Amino acid sequence: MSLPQRLAFPEGFLWGAATAAHQIEGHNFANSWWDWEAQPGRIKDGSRSHPGADQFTRYGDDFALLRSLGHNAHRLSIEWSRVVPAPGIVDPAALEHYRRVLESLRENGIEPVVTLHHFSNPRWIEQRGSWRADQTGQFLTFVETVVSAYRDLVRFWITINEPAVYANLGFVEGIHPPGDRNVRTGIAVLRRLLTAHARAYEAIHTIQPEAQVGVAHNMAAFTPWPGGGPADRLMTWIHERVLNHAVLAAIDKPTLARLAAGTLLPPHRPMTLDFIGLNYYTRSEVRFAPERPGVLFAEHRPGSRGKRSLFGWEIYPRGLYQVLRSLRPYRLPVIVSENGVAEEGDELRPRFLLEHLRALHAAIDAGVDVRGYLHWTAFDNFEWAEGLRMRFGLVHVDFETGERVPKPSAWLFERIARRNAIEPEDWLSARSARREHPAPLVHPD
Ligand code: FCB
Repeated sequence: MSLPQRLAFPEGFLWGAATAAHQIEGHNFANSWWDWEAQPGRIKDGSRSHPGADQFTRYGDDFALLRSLGHNAHRLSIEWSRVVPAPGIVDPAALEHYRRVLESLRENGIEPVVTLHHFSNPRWIEQRGSWRADQTGQFLTFVETVVSAYRDLVRFWITINEPAVYANLGFVEGIHPPGDRNVRTGIAVLRRLLTAHARAYEAIHTIQPEAQVGVAHNMAAFTPWPGGGPADRLMTWIHERVLNHAVLAAIDKPTLARLAAGTLLPPHRPMTLDFIGLNYYTRSEVRFAPERPGVLFAEHRPGSRGKRSLFGWEIYPRGLYQVLRSLRPYRLPVIVSENGVAEEGDELRPRFLLEHLRALHAAIDAGVDVRGYLHWTAFDNFEWAEGLRMRFGLVHVDFETGERVPKPSAWLFERIARRNAIEPEDWLSARSARREHPAPLVHPD
């Protein structure tokens, strides 16, 4: 049986991993998450973010390791609560710390992609009502401080990570801080965050005209529940439009009308994005649920047809092709800003990587301008409400000793990144590929 052909990626392609400050640094004691973790039952395995992977002190060795693993880009976030520990107070030591962090990336030949809001808020923002209240002014002050400080080191900025996921988990499902369960609050928070994004976009360009500014937007693949009828198919279509496209349709001006109707209009190129950061993990199955008007008459559940990760998420590489392909009408460059799999060891990850990269390559062939792939994540870390048990890293971390050991998938990634291509023999190194030829990638269009 012949092996798949060589797949070469565009010149200058960004290869790396993505992280978030609260998940990887440790030592974050002044934000919404630290207080949330302290409440009994909030974190499934009872673990805490500190010391976790302790990258706050280990970043130098960590970035040298990433360089040896072929990475030429790295997504990280700057922790707002460190830089602005109290209203109106900027901590010079924190600014100095992140300067050294960013310089260390540069010294290792790694392009930083910096997120400004990744789920955590300073405690004082949380005490002032979190994003139930308008925090845009405070956020902009932080953004301006950080961009002014690092414009010589950073070209790519991501304003907000997954605004819709943040609004949903914190204000509708209540499993992230501040733990509200109210759909209306969730929508109000989303609108506020998108307004904050648009204003941050302008502010960043005023300080650094050549900056590339994006958002990290979560998208999933959707299919009807197995055996579903026309109502399930219709709801699948509606939910795909709303969940994948409302944020992009409304990002310049997040009115309710745009959030709702914008998804039904043909996509336009947003004015407040220079690139789209795409976070893609899995597929959901949708069924028509007339008893659930509050959530647009549908019930979702994890895809049930493929292998599942430890998280319970279905592994569905073709979905990456589908969502990338659906971004083509926006006419913007795309960076895959997250994509990964949780498991105890490294059984699924090698093949997960190859198949998702093949899907990404197919999307480039189909005309989507994909500029980079940032795997979630570099090092095992603190997976929010799931805790330390949910290991997503290319590199294993012993949370007792802090020891780092690259997993086999990290070396597979290294070969692909260095050659800027997948070679036929790479498939042989992914365990199960020995037994099973990769399924053909069917292009839906
Ligand atoms: C995304 C988050 C990221 C990580 C992955 C698994 O939604 O942006 O911080 O938790 O999921």
